[in-house]
Amino acid sequence: MTVQDTAKVTPDPGRDVLEQLMSPPADLDPYPVYAWLRENAPVYASKYGASLISRYADVQYVLKHPEVFPGACEEAMAQMFPQAAGHEAYQVLVTSLVGSNPPKHTRLRGLIGKEFTSRRVGGLRAAVESLADRLVDDAAERLRAGETVDLHTAVSLPTPLHVISDLLGIPSADRSRLAVLVPAMMNVVDPAASPAAVNAADAAFHELGDYLGALIAERRRTPRDDLISALVLVHDDDNHRLSDGELRTLLFTLWSAGFETTATGIDNALLVLIERPETRKWLLGDEPSATAFVEETLRHDPSVQVAPGIRFAATDTALSGVTIPQGTQVRLMLGAASRDPAAYPQPDDFMPGRGGATPLSFGAGIHYCLGAGLSRLEMTVLLPRLQRKLPALALDGPPGRRRSIPLRDFTSLKVRLAE
Ligand code: HEM
Repeated sequence: MTVQDTAKVTPDPGRDVLEQLMSPPADLDPYPVYAWLRENAPVYASKYGASLISRYADVQYVLKHPEVFPGACEEAMAQMFPQAAGHEAYQVLVTSLVGSNPPKHTRLRGLIGKEFTSRRVGGLRAAVESLADRLVDDAAERLRAGETVDLHTAVSLPTPLHVISDLLGIPSADRSRLAVLVPAMMNVVDPAASPAAVNAADAAFHELGDYLGALIAERRRTPRDDLISALVLVHDDDNHRLSDGELRTLLFTLWSAGFETTATGIDNALLVLIERPETRKWLLGDEPSATAFVEETLRHDPSVQVAPGIRFAATDTALSGVTIPQGTQVRLMLGAASRDPAAYPQPDDFMPGRGGATPLSFGAGIHYCLGAGLSRLEMTVLLPRLQRKLPALALDGPPGRRRSIPLRDFTSLKVRLAE
């Protein structure tokens, strides 16, 4: 579909855009709806109470001006999500890093940021390389034996799952069990979550919360060389720089933000390699060439389609000529901004090294993704290995998609060796 075609798509005026994005055909291809939004309703008032912002310049403005569009505080959240009163899972949104404002945000980010400096992340390279070698070799062996392999569960998910778990100190035996709780918990990020989805989020929130509580107590008794132990020390020091709730939520956030997002990025990149074989050469070159490929996959089809941070207008503010009244909830449509022709010429084309506007796939400003360097490391280590060891893959059926928004994630990506 060309840019002109996508702009001509007219969503059903009787249905809210968020509902359309979650059902066929937009659940599989949201980009025509995004094109319509950018052109016709760059500030779209959803019946779910949020104004959806879709143009690159507006999204970037909101991200970079937290004083004009701060994160929703507890009172604002209570107004925006009346259901939050009876559902603890919404605490993730209010008390998390992305939901907090300066000075609290500055303090929390200062405490945790040093664990994610480029030097620290670079130090993980050898471990990521050996994990990637092991997972890719296992998958290659099964494929060469004629099996169909689900690369989502065999490679894309375990890579970031083990990396973030090793960093935090989550024991291997517990990882798979806990991993399924994250998508359930993240239902609350969805602006149009159903009551059943919110109940499932609550259950997952409790299970993960209890688990982390027990792990914190264990590390307090017997510290190890991991991030949980380091944060417990910060919590317990003289000034109590980290409160009980903050410690728990930080672990929550790091654990939940740390793998579904990256797994989706890897799955998306794999789809590009399979469906656009001419792009494979980017992974056979030097490191900058692999980096350019990874950056373009993150722009072309961002894992995080709606920014998790819920903001509101601190004062009446105009975006694209539309006044957003004070107190309005604002959601940033990163998937739409990433295909804005005003920022990226021929935005639907896949063009590694295209240059142009700064990608917003990891956000921007004070809430810029803490794990961006880690995800990039994982993707640039893993994808060239996959391409070298499995140069010709074919899909074995359509990919299984879980959702379209807020995270455009996968449940399966079955492949076989191409003839
Ligand atoms: C491809 C993978 C990833 C993508 C696309 C992604 C995307 C994003 C985006 C868009 C934001 C900004 C949210 C907003 O402003 O509303 C963000 C923030 C954040 N991300 Fe990521 N993320 C990824 C991987 C990770 C990983 C691996 C971690 C964990 C180490 C992580 C931890 C965080 C945290 C803690 C924040 C909040 C930062 C703050 O508020 O200061 N992310 N991410």
